[in-house]
Amino acid sequence: MKLTSRARFSTICLHAGQEPDPSTGAIITPIYQTSTYVQEALGVHKGYEYARTQNPTRMALEGNVAAIEGGRAGFAFASGMAAIGAIATLLQAGDHVVVSDNTYGGTFRLFDKVLTRYQLSFTYVDTSNLDAVERAFTQTTRMLFVETPTNPVMRITDLRAAADLAHARNARLVVDNTFASPYVQRPIEFGADLVTHSTTKYLNGHSDSVGGVVIAMRDDDIEWLRFVQNAEGAILSPFDSWLVLRGTKTLPLRMQRHNENGLALAEFLAVHPKVKHVYYPGLPTHPQYDLAKRQMRGFGGMLAFELGSLDAARRLLNTVRLHALAESLGGVETLISHPASMTHASVPVERRNAIGITDGLVRISAGIEDIEDLKDDLDRALDAV
Ligand SMILES: Cc1ncc(COP(=O)(O)O)c(C=O)c1O
Repeated sequence: MKLTSRARFSTICLHAGQEPDPSTGAIITPIYQTSTYVQEALGVHKGYEYARTQNPTRMALEGNVAAIEGGRAGFAFASGMAAIGAIATLLQAGDHVVVSDNTYGGTFRLFDKVLTRYQLSFTYVDTSNLDAVERAFTQTTRMLFVETPTNPVMRITDLRAAADLAHARNARLVVDNTFASPYVQRPIEFGADLVTHSTTKYLNGHSDSVGGVVIAMRDDDIEWLRFVQNAEGAILSPFDSWLVLRGTKTLPLRMQRHNENGLALAEFLAVHPKVKHVYYPGLPTHPQYDLAKRQMRGFGGMLAFELGSLDAARRLLNTVRLHALAESLGGVETLISHPASMTHASVPVERRNAIGITDGLVRISAGIEDIEDLKDDLDRALDAV
C-alpha cells in the first residue's frame, strides 16, 4: 500500500499514513487503546513509551492529514480550539498577530479573553482587503491568522498574496481551513506555513467526534509543536483519531456532494423573493467570485442568507424539518443555524454588525441529502416567513 510520489488526492485521503497492522495484517489501523507500552529490556522498546507522547492510531491520522494538506507533519489535538491554542504557543510575550475580523467566535474568545493576558496583542481586520492587512502589521507582528471563506459571511482572502505579505515581514501565515476543507482548498500550495482544522467538521464529517489538527511546514515549527503537544498534553484520543481516519477516506466523495448541494441551495435562495441576500462564493454576484474560482475547487457546503429581521429568521428556523437546527458544520446531515445568537453570540454586537452578522442572517451547512428534499424543506419554511 505504498503511495507513489504521484498519488492523487483521493488516493492520498484513503491510504496516506496507514499500513496494514504489522501484527495481524488488519487493513484498518486498530484503535490502540493503551496508556503505555511494555519494554523488552531497559531502554529497549519499539518506539512507543507512553501514549500521550506516541500512539499508533493518532500517528496514523497525523501522517494522513499532513499528506492531505500537502504539509510535512501533522499533530492531532483534543479539539479545534486546542489545536489553535498549540499554534499560539509559537508566539512569545510582546508579539502581535493580525487576524481575520470575521474569525470563528471561539478563536476570537481565546485570543481576546485568554491570550491577551500573556502580553500578546491582536488586531482584527478584513483580511480580504490586503491593504488593510498591510496597515495592521507592526514591527512586532509575527503571525497572520486567516480564515477563508469566513464564517458566516464568506469573505475570501487571497492566500498567495497573504503569504507573500506575511513572509516579507518575517511573520507566519496560519490558515484555519476548517470551513473549506482540503478538498476545496490547500493553503500550503499558496505558501501558508501552518494549517489548522477543527476535525469536528469536514475531516471527520459525521458529527460524532470533536478534534483538531495542525499541519506544519517549517522545521522549527514541527519541532516545537511535537514538543508542546506532549508538554501540554491536549492530544486526540485513539478512538477519535480512528473516527477521523475513517472520515478522511471519504472526504473527496463527501465534498463533491457538499459542493453540489451548497451551490444548488445558494442558487435556489438567490432567486427566492423572501431572501434579501445570499452569501456564497460560488455565485457570480459574490464580489470575489474570480478569486474563489482561482484558489478553491468547488465552493464548499457553507452558505448564509439574509432574511431582514430576527422575526423572519425565527419563523424559518422554527419551521424547517429536514434542516436540523444546530451549531457546528461539515457533517453529512444538513444543519441550519442563527449565527448572531448561536455560533457568534460571544462576539460583541457592534463587531457582529460591522461584519454583517445581523439578526436576520441564517447559515446553512449543506449536507449530502437529496437536493430536492432540501429545497422542498426550505421552500415550505420560507412560505412561513
Ligand atoms: C472555523 C473554525 N475553527 C475552529 C473551530 C473550533 O473547533 P472545535 O469546536 O473542534 O474546538 C470551529 C468550531 O466551530 C470553527 O468553525
